[in-house]
Amino acid sequence: MSASGAVALLYYHSLFSRPPLKMIAQIFLLILLLQSSDAKEGSQFSIREATIPEIQTAFKQNKLTSKSLVEFYIHEIQKLNPIYRAVIEVNPDALHEAQRADEERKANAPKSRFGLHGIPILVKDNIATKDNLNTTAGSYAFLKSVVPRDAGVVEKLRESGAIILGKASLSEWAHFRSSNAPSGWNARAKQAVNPYVATVDPCGSSTGSAISVATNMVTVSLGTETDGSILCPSSANSVVGIKPTLGLTSRAGVIPISPRQDTVGPICRTVTDAVYVLDAIAGFDKNDAVATKKASKYIPEGGYLKHLKSGGLKGKRLGIVRAYPYFGFDNDIETLNKFEKHFMILRKNGATLIDNLEVTNYDDIQPLFIGEVIALFAEFKIALNAYLKELVTSPVRSLADVIAFNEKFANLEKIDDYPQDLFLEAEKTNGIGKIEKEALKNLTKASKNGFEKLMKENKLDALVTPYSYGSTVLAIGGYPGITVPGGYDENGAPYGICFGGLKGSEPTLIEIAYGFEQATKLRKPPPINDH
Ligand SMILES: *[C@@H]1O[C@H](CO)[C@@H](O)[C@H](O)[C@H]1NC(C)=O
Ligand SMILES: *[C@@H]1O[C@H](CO)[C@@H](O)[C@H](O)[C@H]1NC(C)=O
Repeated sequence: MSASGAVALLYYHSLFSRPPLKMIAQIFLLILLLQSSDAKEGSQFSIREATIPEIQTAFKQNKLTSKSLVEFYIHEIQKLNPIYRAVIEVNPDALHEAQRADEERKANAPKSRFGLHGIPILVKDNIATKDNLNTTAGSYAFLKSVVPRDAGVVEKLRESGAIILGKASLSEWAHFRSSNAPSGWNARAKQAVNPYVATVDPCGSSTGSAISVATNMVTVSLGTETDGSILCPSSANSVVGIKPTLGLTSRAGVIPISPRQDTVGPICRTVTDAVYVLDAIAGFDKNDAVATKKASKYIPEGGYLKHLKSGGLKGKRLGIVRAYPYFGFDNDIETLNKFEKHFMILRKNGATLIDNLEVTNYDDIQPLFIGEVIALFAEFKIALNAYLKELVTSPVRSLADVIAFNEKFANLEKIDDYPQDLFLEAEKTNGIGKIEKEALKNLTKASKNGFEKLMKENKLDALVTPYSYGSTVLAIGGYPGITVPGGYDENGAPYGICFGGLKGSEPTLIEIAYGFEQATKLRKPPPINDH
C-alpha cells in the first residue's frame, strides 16, 4: 500500500451522494411519523433528545428512574440497531447497575450528586471494560481475550456513577486495518448506516458512538480519535464531538494506534452533554502517567461546566482560512457558500472573524504532512504489541499473530472481508528508525510553523473549519477541536462546523461551540422509521 493510499483513507469525507427525490419525500413523511410516535411516550417526560441536566432534574422530581431509562434504551436498541448497527454489545449488567444508581439516589448518597450519576453511556469497542462486555475493536481476533482492567476513562466513568450500557460499533480497528473497508464496517457488527441518509457515508471510525446518540439509543457516548475519528462521524451524523488535547483524557486500556495522536472524547447530541462527559473523564491516570500529568494543568478549577455560558462568542477571535487544504476550506466555493451564513451568525454574536488568513510558507509545510502515516505505521506496531502483552488471556499476542489470525479467519468463515493492507504495512516497520525520526521532526515543524504560528500571529481563539477538514492539523499536534451540527445539505445529509484551538484551549472552545449551538440550534433528530 502506498502512503498516499493511507492519506486518502485518513481524509475520507464523501458526504455528498445524491439520493432520488422519492427518498426525500419519504424522509419528510417519516419526520411526521416520528413526531406522532414521540407523543406516545407520555406527557410526564420525554427521554428522546433529553439532555443530562434535564434527565437529572427528572430523576430528582421522581419522573424518571435510571432503570426506566436503561429499559427505554435497550428497547430502542432492539428495534433500531438491526437497521443502523451502531451497537456491538449491550451490557447484561446495565439494568442491575441502573437499579443500584436508583438506590444510591434514594439514599441521597454523595455520589448521586455527580453529573453523570445514573446516566447510560456507550463506549467505543476499542475501550476496555473489565466486566461482561468484550473489548474487540470490532475484530474476532480479540473475542476471546481478557483485559487486565477497565480503561482509565471507564474507571472515571464508573467513579462518577455512569452506567456502561454497552459497546459502540466502529470502523474495524479504528480504521487502521484496511484502506479498502468502508467507514463504519467491522467483521462483528458489519456495516453501520447513516440515520439521516442511508446512502451517505456515516464516517469513522467512531461511527457507532455518533449514530447511537443521534438515534437516541443512548444518552451519551465515548469515541476515540487518531485523525478525524471523533470529528468526522460527529459531523456526518449531526452530533457534537469533542476531540480533547492529547493526554487530557487517559488512553490506558484503549486499543492503540499512536500514543502521540490517540485521544478519547465525548460524542453527544449537545455541547452541554459533551461537557458533562468531558468533566467526568478528564484528568490524571497512573496508567497513562506522562501524558495525563502534563495535560492536567489545562483543567480549569471546578471543571468545564462553568464555560457553558451565554454570550460565549463575545470577543472571540476566529480565524478562517479559505485557500489552503489541511487548514480549512481549500477554495471550495460550494462549501464556503454553505458556511457564509454561519460566519454572519458568529459575527452577530460578538465574535471577530479574521478572514482570508494566509498560511505563510504553505509550500514548505504541505510536504511535511506525509510524515503522519510514516510515523503511525511504526507507532502502531510498537503500541499494539505492548497492549497485547498486557492482556490476561488472548489468542493473539503480536501484530504478526493478528495478521495470521485474520488470514485464517477469512478463509475459515468465508465472510465478506477486506484486505489487511495497513496491518501488513505496519508489520514491515522496525521501531522508530531514521525515516520515522525524520517524519516526527517534520510533523513537529509542520505544527510549529503552520497551526501554532497561524494561531499566535493572529491572536486567534479558534480556527473555523468545515466538516472535520482541519482534523489532520489538530491530530499531528495533539490540539483540541469541537464540532457542532452546522445544518443539512439539499439531500438531508448533515454537516458540522469545527472549532480547533491550541493545547488546553478547551474552555475557550466550549464557550465558542456552545455560543454557536445556542444561536443556531440546528440539530434535528434523524428521520427514523419505527414501523
Ligand atoms: C462476549 O463474547 C463471548 C464470546 O466469546 C459471547 O459469548 C458473549 O456473549 C459476549 N458478551 C456480550 C456481552 O455480548
Ligand atoms: C520531511 O520533509 C521533507 C520536506 O521538507 C520531505 O522531502 C521529506 O520526504 C519528509 N520526510 C518524511 C520522512 O516525511
